[in-house]
Amino acid sequence: MACLRGWHVALATAEVEALAPQTKFVAMSPRLLVSSSQLETTELQQIITCSSGLQCFLDNYVSINLEHETIEDLLEKVTQMIQGAKFKGSLAVRTMRIDGRINGFSTQTTAGKIGSIAVAEQFTIDLETPEIEIGLIADGGSNIVACGWLVGNFDDSIGTANRRATERPFFRPISLDPRLARLAVNLACGPIDTQAVLDPMTGTGGFAVEAVMMGRRCVAVDMNQAMVDGTTQNIAWALQGQSAENDYQVITGDACELSETLEESWHGQISGIVLDPPYGRNSHGSQSHYDLIGKTLQSARMVIGNNAKLVLIVPIIPDKDDTGEIELLHGHWEELKQLLSDCGSTINGQWKEHVHGSLSRLILLVSIAPLD
Ligand SMILES: C[S@@+](CC[C@H](N)C(=O)[O-])C[C@H]1O[C@@H](n2cnc3c(N)ncnc32)[C@H](O)[C@@H]1O
Repeated sequence: MACLRGWHVALATAEVEALAPQTKFVAMSPRLLVSSSQLETTELQQIITCSSGLQCFLDNYVSINLEHETIEDLLEKVTQMIQGAKFKGSLAVRTMRIDGRINGFSTQTTAGKIGSIAVAEQFTIDLETPEIEIGLIADGGSNIVACGWLVGNFDDSIGTANRRATERPFFRPISLDPRLARLAVNLACGPIDTQAVLDPMTGTGGFAVEAVMMGRRCVAVDMNQAMVDGTTQNIAWALQGQSAENDYQVITGDACELSETLEESWHGQISGIVLDPPYGRNSHGSQSHYDLIGKTLQSARMVIGNNAKLVLIVPIIPDKDDTGEIELLHGHWEELKQLLSDCGSTINGQWKEHVHGSLSRLILLVSIAPLD
């Protein structure tokens, strides 16, 4: 079972599906997803380490719905889960409440009972440095209580969820929120492999920093030298003085001329493009927004591999009445869709993200075909 963070459950669901493409996920509640197949613990750990929207996995989980089951039912299932464990050693039971309280249910009392069951099964309790952890999640929105071997943790003070672009040495108001940047890279590229991420308009390196931190190969481009220097600085800072094991490059050049801008060694190596183009009067001389996006995508098609995906982020006007309509801040949705289709692209997914009262973002996941 996957448990999502509360930030944007639809995007987080798409991210976990991208990171585990062989598995289907079915929502038991908005933040609890059940996977159709059992993933290896190492795979679960890798997904947790690189994901943005995922809080944790409960491996070999059991669950009850308190609307028609009891805490005793849960404890019976947990006993079987613990008895089935291949490993015995020191253990801690961690608890988390999501989406409010469940009336009459105490996570702490239940955790204590689960601890006693574990002790009866030859585990020892060590709350400081346990060898293994059990996660107990109480979902107040659905009255579901789930329990399983915890992969990841319940701590929101670490990881992408708590990082800020303002902490980086080179920050500008254009800098993307790290959690959205990381999620976009994962949506575009899927599981970490030997293929590379292309960030053609890197700015302060929002996407590139996340890609390199995850250990992905990455090539970032910007026509503004100050941005290239700033992104290089941000990546070095994120790596904390260590050299990246993966290969990455930040290049000064034009996103509309990627086959010349990118060294030959990157050609055909790119499986994901993440594009956050500039808007506003000073962005790119006389080129209109569509012109710039269109030329960037056509030039990207010269360097991408087969089955590449693009994540495009565009500013939109908030849909305050929840009509489902898309109103771009610059230009028209129908025109953008036409442009994407003219660039050999098919939209696979679209999500809105609230930024502030007068700004939202549209996040588009698009399949894009290479040009020979
Ligand atoms: C909205 S910003 C990107 C912000 C970035 N995602 C971040 O987290 O900082 C767009 C960037 O595109 C760059 N840019 C504009 N036209 C370009 C082009 N033709 N080729 C390369 N970069 C370009 C601008 O210099 C700017 O840094």
